[in-house]
Parts: sequence; structure tokens; C-alpha cells
Amino acid sequence: MKDIFEDRQSNRVFIKKEIPKQYLLEIINAASKAPSPKNRQPWRFYILRDDDKSDFTELFRINRSRKPTLSQRKLNEFNSEESTYKIMKDADTLILVFNIFPSEKIFKSKDSLFDIANIQSIGASIENMLLKATELDIGSLWICDIFSCYDLINEKYFKEGQLIAAVALGYTSDIKLQKNRKSLYETILNIQEL
Ligand SMILES: Cc1cc2nc3c(=O)[nH]c(=O)nc-3n(C[C@H](O)[C@H](O)[C@H](O)COP(=O)(O)O)c2cc1C
Repeated sequence: MKDIFEDRQSNRVFIKKEIPKQYLLEIINAASKAPSPKNRQPWRFYILRDDDKSDFTELFRINRSRKPTLSQRKLNEFNSEESTYKIMKDADTLILVFNIFPSEKIFKSKDSLFDIANIQSIGASIENMLLKATELDIGSLWICDIFSCYDLINEKYFKEGQLIAAVALGYTSDIKLQKNRKSLYETILNIQEL
């Protein structure tokens, strides 16, 4: 039996093969099954394929690195945008993920705890998408390397919402890698007491 938790990995090499629309809908349906605070379901998805995807990658190509994020400035990670651009160009589909309830827009003032709760559940919905894609033998990549174009993307695709991430989907030729993970001894703070 397929172990989707073991099999899921970040894919960065995509081959030219179309994902059936039905599979995309199954992936979004899996996302919508995630838990959320007060069942608010704060996620919204914008699906980019074909010409729409090309418009998006072109917007990214032209504007990337113009407004570096703080972490980019600190860690000098500019080069990863180059590979992200190529990955997004080769992926069959890109899904932009938004929070529909950003506190600044809903309450006219920032409420970090409200935002944290909503964003947690959006993270869960993204993970559901990745796991469903794995089940369907579709490769995926969770992407935040688009953030130097944060305002532009937010404004163009869903200005009432808050951009959270992008997900690239496509059939992949990547080989399966061993998962490189910290041991349970490192991750469970009080393992000695169990
Ligand atoms: C919030 C988040 C943002 C990420 N952004 C990127 C990204 O922009 N580009 C990229 O190549 N990988 C990105 N990743 C993938 C991670 O690099 C990857 O999950 C990690 O290295 C573990 O590898 P695995 O997914 O194969 O288990 C991101 C993952 C998360 C959860």
C-alpha cells in the first residue's frame, strides 16, 4: 500500500504532461477537508494553467528581487528565485493560496492571534493538497520564494485576501529520496518523561 507520508517529497523537476482537471479538483477537495478555527475555512485558491500560468511566471520573472524580503536580504537567497522561476515554468499547474480573512482587512487593525489561527489551518489545507497529489502520483512543491513579488501578486489575483503561498503541481521525473528528518529525541522536548 502507498504510504503517502513517506512518499511525499518536494519535487523540483516536472515533465510535460497535463494533469486531468478531475485530479486538480480532487486535490482542492482534499484541501477543503482540513480543520479550521470555528470551521471558518479561510483558504481560497487561484488555479493557474496554460496562458494564465505564463502571465504569472512572466510577472515573477520581471519583478523578482526588486523588493527583496527581509530573509532574502539577510541570507542572500536571491539565487533560489532563479530556480523557483524555472520550476514554476515547467510545472503543469500553479495554485496560489490566499487567506480570505486577513485581520487588517476584516477588522481594520491587525489581530495576530486571529491571523495565526487562520494561517495554521491554511497550512493544513496545503499539506492535504500535497498528500492527495502524492496519492495521485502527482509531484508537488510548496513555494514561498515568490514573496519578493508579494504585493504585486496579492493585488493582481486577490486583493481582498492575503497571499500565503503557491503550490506547483505536475508529473515529475524526480527520484524518491530518503527523508532527512530529525530524530524523535530531538523533536519531542520531554521524551525522557514519556
Ligand atoms: C512554508 C514552506 C515554504 C517553502 N518554500 C519553498 C520554496 O519557495 N522553494 C522550494 O524549493 N521549496 C520550498 N519549500 C519546500 C521545503 O524546502 C521542503 O519541504 C523541505 O526542504 C523538506 O523537504 P521535503 O518536502 O522533500 O520533505 C517550502 C516548504 C514550506 C513548508
